[in-house]
Amino acid sequence: MENLVIYGGAFDPVHNGHLRIAEAASLRLNADVVFVPTHKPRWKEASASDEDRVKMLKIALRKAKNPSFTISLCEMERNEDETYTIDTLHYFQKKYPDRQLVLLIGTDQVNAFPKWKNADEIASIANIVYVDRPGYEPDKAVVKKYKMKSLGFSESGEVSSTSIRELRYLDLPGAILDYISSHHLYYMKTLETYLDGRRLEHSISVAELAYAIAYRNHIPNPGRAYIAGLLHDVAKRLPDEKARAIMKEKFSDYRKIPTFVWHQFTGAKVVEDVFKIDDPTVLDAIEFHCTGRAEMDEIAMIIYAADKIEPTRGWDSARFIKMCLADYEKGFIEVLRANREFLTKKGSDPNSISWTRECFEYYLGGNADGLSKKS
Ligand SMILES: [Fe+2]
Ligand SMILES: [Fe+2]
Repeated sequence: MENLVIYGGAFDPVHNGHLRIAEAASLRLNADVVFVPTHKPRWKEASASDEDRVKMLKIALRKAKNPSFTISLCEMERNEDETYTIDTLHYFQKKYPDRQLVLLIGTDQVNAFPKWKNADEIASIANIVYVDRPGYEPDKAVVKKYKMKSLGFSESGEVSSTSIRELRYLDLPGAILDYISSHHLYYMKTLETYLDGRRLEHSISVAELAYAIAYRNHIPNPGRAYIAGLLHDVAKRLPDEKARAIMKEKFSDYRKIPTFVWHQFTGAKVVEDVFKIDDPTVLDAIEFHCTGRAEMDEIAMIIYAADKIEPTRGWDSARFIKMCLADYEKGFIEVLRANREFLTKKGSDPNSISWTRECFEYYLGGNADGLSKKS
């Protein structure tokens, strides 16, 4: 009998961890996998609508290009306040009488399983396979009683739907990030209280470009570039009084710092306080996106460059974008060089801000190749 894996969940939103688990289940159990998004999760409120969650799931599966993956809307279509796994299993039993059903659950669900409605019947209809999750120890008695088996796969990564909704750790297809931003889901709702219109469009564009540059350059956890890009200008419209208060707190001699630069510092503070992001790489990239500084790390260099060259800026930056996608360090140096020329032409003194002066000196030297100076 051919196996059919039933993979239920809120998928709020679906992420690469889900896809890796489904891939492993398909291979290890030699099975087709059907994703069954819940209508209304029993344990937590979903923050995206049924419609949005399904659309994101469809995008993810289209990108995954695995012919074994399908989606069933049977739980959503039942449209009941409470959805029970036993009803879902009856549905699949009727639909595929010649298939062996396999119910895929998380280790965190193992210990609560005896309390599920008709737990004995569930175990008699389907083989129950659980996915190991760090920090959860399955109760051996429960495992034995319901003849549960481990999938033997624990490499789904540290991503979770919560870490995405809270903009802490993004490991999901880029097309879903695009969906979230264009449909105003999750973190976008908070961001949109700070930015709108052209400024929001610019921030999304920086995020997308920064992510693409990080991804194409094989930088670990490219989601950090997306987060920093999306939030880099969050404080651009902070009321004067608030901005002044933050600057006063952070820099006693803040009056010497030109006001157009303030938002990089106040932005980092908003990101820390409001978005609860404590990743020093992300905070640092935001804190110096405008001035640059000496010894920037890879994400900071990418944000600096992406901010200047993102395609909605209104100038022909295609050459720089191409360069950054191929080699972010070389691209960054060229953007920096072009920016110094631009500032000089504009008549502003690039040396008037100490961080900028140090950045130019460190990476561009006299007119030498900044890369060799850096290494
Ligand atoms: Fe900025
Ligand atoms: Fe910007």
